[in-house]
Amino acid sequence: MDLQIHSATDRAAPAKYRKVLTPWAVQGNLNPPIIERGSGSFFFDNHGKRYLDLTSGYVAVSLGHGHPKVVEAIQRQAEKLCWTASSYFNEVRADYAEALSRISPWPEEGARAHFASGGAEANDDMVKIARLVTRRPKILSAYRSYHGSTIGGSALTGVDRWRDPFPNIPGIVRFFAPYPYRSPFHAETAAQETARALDHVERILLHEGAANVAAIMLEPMTGSSGLVVYPPGYLEGLRTICDRHGILLAFDEVMTGFGRVGKAFASIRFGVAPDLLSFAKGASSSYTPLGGVLVRERLARFFDAELFDVGHTHAGHVLAVAGGLAALQVYEEEGLFERAIEIEAWLREGLGALQAKHAGVVGDVRGAGALFGLELISDPETRAPLVGWHHPGGSGPMKRFYATLLERRVHAYGRYNIVLVAPPLTIGREELAFGFDALDHALATLVPRSHRQP
Ligand SMILES: Cc1ncc(COP(=O)(O)O)c(C=O)c1O
Repeated sequence: MDLQIHSATDRAAPAKYRKVLTPWAVQGNLNPPIIERGSGSFFFDNHGKRYLDLTSGYVAVSLGHGHPKVVEAIQRQAEKLCWTASSYFNEVRADYAEALSRISPWPEEGARAHFASGGAEANDDMVKIARLVTRRPKILSAYRSYHGSTIGGSALTGVDRWRDPFPNIPGIVRFFAPYPYRSPFHAETAAQETARALDHVERILLHEGAANVAAIMLEPMTGSSGLVVYPPGYLEGLRTICDRHGILLAFDEVMTGFGRVGKAFASIRFGVAPDLLSFAKGASSSYTPLGGVLVRERLARFFDAELFDVGHTHAGHVLAVAGGLAALQVYEEEGLFERAIEIEAWLREGLGALQAKHAGVVGDVRGAGALFGLELISDPETRAPLVGWHHPGGSGPMKRFYATLLERRVHAYGRYNIVLVAPPLTIGREELAFGFDALDHALATLVPRSHRQP
């Protein structure tokens, strides 16, 4: 990701702030605001300036900041027990695993949960679980994807792979998934895109040997690598291919889970159940570092007689799962999974209006639920990306764009020419309108090719 925030505050921060190596950023010129506290859809810097969190942090703080019920639950748990070895049973862990099974895409069969500290770790573990169960080495992973920043996560990630130092791990084979706005299959209709994308997967399996493939892994809708909602029939087609070849279907629901797209999981919204899925981010609304893998019951049973050879010191960290359990209770009590559908209507309207106004630079508006994005272009005729897929978001026009947003007290992020808009599920319509206004000003800083001086 390129998350550099260059918009300088008035004063340079004291030297101690540079003792922290800021992720995904060249360190030298950083001078972002110093964030002290958060409340609802906003966070505040050390001068009391208020910023609207238009992307729920990194599409994670889905309850907004500081929800009192989750904060209290964490405080209560901290007084009792923060951590115990994963080898012991613990009631909070058990309650959370049971709740996850209930909301999982396998309502009758149920699921078992493995816990980790975040999304990348969960994805690494999901690969391990798939390999342990199938005893097969290969994993198919999509080019346009983001799966995290561990060695495993980077290797699974389809873009930026050349950027990490030697990220590859053996056995990962990449494929192209549908991308209707820029079809890699030269398709002219959604049906063609689906059919050709599925045929492409079949061909890869033919050459790689389907019997060597443990899992096909993908985000059921892509997040930071493009907000691509797959055309009808694609996920169903992958399900059929997996079933035919004894391959597991593994969904990365780190970004799409916990109501982000209007249901507990995107698998439910899109009507295709995988065999296992990873989660993180919204699970605890990022109040505690929490991720994990849900494994459908009939697969998890494998480990009743075999070693579950996966684990971490923080697997099922009691404070972390207490945050998850409390967050889930709030999502359900406040009907927030369903609320994402209401927000979807506001996003379609507001972002649609921005696209109409800035047609020279906003090529596409797409998404589902409260997970939307803008694809920025420099030329509506050719759809040339505003910045290329090797162009850090922290420089050039995107630097100006994000700096303008921050000057107008709005936080958002994205990658290359993709800008995410994924507010907390608790956001109000007026708060969102404030975000649209800032986006309007930021888009005005981008000059379409037709308006540039020769
Ligand atoms: C789809 C997806 N998978 C995995 C990850 C990695 O999660 P984490 O940053 O918690 O390791 C992310 C983070 O943005 C993500 O969007």
